[in-house]
Amino acid sequence: RSLILNTMSNKQFKVVITEKEPPYNKIKEIAEVYQNPNGGSLARDILLEQSKDADAILCLLRDKIDKELLDNAPKLKVVSTLSVGYEHIDLDECRKRGIRVGNTPDVLTATTAELGATLTLTAARRIVEAADTARNGGWNIWTPYWLCGRGINGATVGIYGLGRIGEGVAKRLKGFEPKRIIYTNRKPKENSEYEFVQLDELLKQSDFLIVTVNAATIEQQFFNLEKFKKMKPTAVFVNISRGCVVNQDDLYTALKEGIIGAAGLDVTVPEPLPTDNPLFSLKNCVILPHIGSATMETRDAMVNLSEDNLINGLTGKPIIGPLE
Ligand code: DGY
Repeated sequence: RSLILNTMSNKQFKVVITEKEPPYNKIKEIAEVYQNPNGGSLARDILLEQSKDADAILCLLRDKIDKELLDNAPKLKVVSTLSVGYEHIDLDECRKRGIRVGNTPDVLTATTAELGATLTLTAARRIVEAADTARNGGWNIWTPYWLCGRGINGATVGIYGLGRIGEGVAKRLKGFEPKRIIYTNRKPKENSEYEFVQLDELLKQSDFLIVTVNAATIEQQFFNLEKFKKMKPTAVFVNISRGCVVNQDDLYTALKEGIIGAAGLDVTVPEPLPTDNPLFSLKNCVILPHIGSATMETRDAMVNLSEDNLINGLTGKPIIGPLE
């Protein structure tokens, strides 16, 4: 529990940074900083203790910025998260207190959309299962129907939550020449080249259903057995939003019993997903450890934006965030 504070005491602000890396030197120029010294999650009690006199917090999606923390941090003016998602932050409570909240949209859109498209094809074409089979000695002679998956060409791609990332996935998958790209949002998007449909239609028609919804705007475990039962038995379900939008027990049942064909998940509950989770036992389920935005360039851009948001927030300049 070592306390890392800058030695200069004339700095105007105190900032808590919940992750060990990177150094966030620009923040350290203007503030006394407590930065998680150990890596891994910053223990809740330390976060609460350090937030007591903090002007700003730079957090990750694993840190809960809730009423308890906000009640305990009367000086707090800015919360900057190193993520586009902000469901870990209680926005209403921040709004009530005039706390500015910054996030990192746009800079990760292309990278996350690339991963969404990649995961869709990986699950659809059984890439992990095929590569494992080859590596493990299961590769016998070539036969006509061995390891056949499903293709996007001529199929219907469905997007649930056509925001920036959903648009990015659709644009990339369009290159694989689907018959249709349909989507469901609360209301149709103006000037979208994709086809707006109601949820039931999306579930029924999609050969590939990709969830890119902002998890702060949807009920928990929205995708449950009732919804999976409306989907095609061959459908591929992909989630790059947040694990909490899916009922994972129901997804297991749907995959195991052939109610749907396959799934690709970049996000789960909890994270990390324990290796004895039944979903890991299924060949038709590809699980990635939340790597949607994980390229060096994108993470650098996210770090820079979260740092700028925090400094701008503290110094009264514009920031990028859900409450701005
Ligand atoms: C986010 O930013 O919300 C992602 O899930 C991590 O890049």
